[in-house]
Amino acid sequence: MSTVTLSNEKTFPCEPGVTILDSAKKHGLVLEYSCRSGRCGVCKAQVVGETEVIHHDESVLSPEEVASGHILTCCRTALSDIRLDIEDLGQFADIKSKTLPCRVDSFRRLADDVIEVVLRLPPKDPLNYLPGQYVDIIGKSGVRRSYSIANIPRQDGKLEFQVRQVKDGVMSQYWFEELASNDLLRLEGPKGTFALRNTTPTNLIFLATGTGIAPVKAILEQLIADPGLVAGKKVWVYWGGRHGQDIYLTPELGSLPIAFIPVLSRPDSSWEGRTGYVQDVLVHDEIDLADAVVYACGSEHMIHSAKEKLVTLGLPHKNFYSDAFVSSN
Ligand code: FES
Repeated sequence: MSTVTLSNEKTFPCEPGVTILDSAKKHGLVLEYSCRSGRCGVCKAQVVGETEVIHHDESVLSPEEVASGHILTCCRTALSDIRLDIEDLGQFADIKSKTLPCRVDSFRRLADDVIEVVLRLPPKDPLNYLPGQYVDIIGKSGVRRSYSIANIPRQDGKLEFQVRQVKDGVMSQYWFEELASNDLLRLEGPKGTFALRNTTPTNLIFLATGTGIAPVKAILEQLIADPGLVAGKKVWVYWGGRHGQDIYLTPELGSLPIAFIPVLSRPDSSWEGRTGYVQDVLVHDEIDLADAVVYACGSEHMIHSAKEKLVTLGLPHKNFYSDAFVSSN
């Protein structure tokens, strides 16, 4: 059994054959993660000591990162006592993931290829989660897919989701062709560590593409419910799509001074808003990135491109939080 020491000197044992991420969880510590499958890079950490890949692969790491001792904690186990340059996330420690039955409460079309689905849970078994987190929804045939919760915890416990149609997707066939009110499904969660964590910098920037707006919508609802979280801050929400119909909602901003900036990469001639990619429009706006925190959710391409550009322009590396939507059919 090896011992893992974090940068805040907390330690936990890592058993052979168990990933560092899972070992931490087993011992009550939550490390940053999103996909758990080696694809998003969110669980990256720099290590001193011996480790071994036991799940997936680490191809998302650049050669420079590998050379400087970076690993993915969802892929590796420890072979010796090791030290990581990351801390655990205390605010997630009390959030327990569970599997619950749920029923389709309602659904409606938001765009040609996006529907909103509202699920209701057993009245005595609400889900304890932080706005921004996701769950796995398990369909009738046992197929499971991850979806971000699009609302803050509500009195009635209902959960909203924004579901995009995936070509030839097994779950998409259910959502877009078979879905009916009162259908019985199951969900497992909450999962992920994408949630409001660091509000110290003056500038809070949200970057979303496609249905990546869903967890951002949940976090905005959190800010509206508790405006003190952003007192004295400036907040920007950049939401990118290709065509006009991809901007399928206008988020509630309450009375908060939040700038909402929809951006299209392939607009038609009637579009009067910003054009290009969200990360490029953000760069163009010349916000002081040295005093900013960025929450990015959406395509892997946007997240990688945004992180690279923004860090180069002065955003502190640790102030970039992301939740990449890795697609599956
Ligand atoms: S790569 Fe490890 S959580 Fe995504």
